[in-house]
Amino acid sequence: MGNYWKVAGSELNDQLHLKDLKEQYSSGKLADASEVENELSKVKYPEYLNKIKLEDVAVHEHVNPDHVKNDKGHLGDPTFKNLFKAGLKIEKFDLSPNLGTEIDGVQLSELDDAGRNDLALFLETRGLAVFRNQDFRDKGPAFARSFGQYFGPLHIHPVAYSAKDHPELLVTFRGAGGPERWEQNFRFKTNTNAWHSDISFEEYPSSFSFFVALEAPPSGGDTVFVDLREAYKRLSPPLQKFFESLTIIHSNEILQKVAAVRGLLSRDKKVLYTEHPLVRSHPVTGEKSLFFSRGFIHKIKGLKESESAFILNFLEDHCLNNPEIQVRANHRGTDARTVIAWDNRFLAHTAVLDFLNHETSARHHFRITVLGEKPYLEDKKVEDSDSDGEDRHPRAY
Ligand SMILES: [Fe+2]
Repeated sequence: MGNYWKVAGSELNDQLHLKDLKEQYSSGKLADASEVENELSKVKYPEYLNKIKLEDVAVHEHVNPDHVKNDKGHLGDPTFKNLFKAGLKIEKFDLSPNLGTEIDGVQLSELDDAGRNDLALFLETRGLAVFRNQDFRDKGPAFARSFGQYFGPLHIHPVAYSAKDHPELLVTFRGAGGPERWEQNFRFKTNTNAWHSDISFEEYPSSFSFFVALEAPPSGGDTVFVDLREAYKRLSPPLQKFFESLTIIHSNEILQKVAAVRGLLSRDKKVLYTEHPLVRSHPVTGEKSLFFSRGFIHKIKGLKESESAFILNFLEDHCLNNPEIQVRANHRGTDARTVIAWDNRFLAHTAVLDFLNHETSARHHFRITVLGEKPYLEDKKVEDSDSDGEDRHPRAY
């Protein structure tokens, strides 16, 4: 069980520690500059492997104050008749009775507004959908951006690679596998699990993510999701009530740290700290869920360090060690043309790096990340967010 929310900035000033960190993060969560240079000539879609150039980035406000009422799910039809249109030959398969559906026969790029509204409501109900045979990568980055913008403002990631001229399209890249690759990843750790809800460190974290496969291994490289509605429901009423009183401090510190030790630029000038309720309400369904984005959690506000770690460790065990409330979405190789879409507000997820020991294709995706509402808990009184004296920094842009 790793408490990697404990991060000390001074580590970066200690040369011995920095050397150690560089080795540990040599296979980190983001594409490495030298790795990408080596791979650029081999990838099928080099236009989706573009390093950040700070001068290319206009000031970008990551805000979406009206999302609670603007969420497109409010306009969706509960029968999803505009998503699953009569006359189409559609195959559907539920990944579990409660969470996730695999769908073939719906072309996302051809959905009209009513279809996109239904898609929003579908994700808000089923949590995630795995769409096969999609044409996003043929339509180009401008189309992907405009598709995402229908659902809300798009996020520009502070550190990750992006599509050329389209910083809103975050790129995740893992080079082809082999024994060296495996050794590089597992020299210092037994797994690479990194559970999180996308960009939970933002004041307005993500509603929907659309994860578009450019290249994917024929097998492996899956994404695992956990249903945090069900995680909340399974708690006893006294613990639910206690958790509803808690505020979590999220942070981008892990990203800043990875960027610093791996020589990547970051658009964020400093470590950001953002407060969100541990239990949040969904703006469309009204359902409560835990907002447990493990990888971006700094601590629980107002608790002593040992108390905070104790509860975070409980949550980790409760949410992440329970296959009953999890599903596994696969990408099934480059030719499956998979797009996985999900609702970040009640799901956390992690990539599965089980293909690294095999000579196989790269895992290369781009992600459209839509900003949602500022997380809130219905009926909870707004408290003074500065009351415990935490050192908080507003976003620089
Ligand atoms: Fe993610």
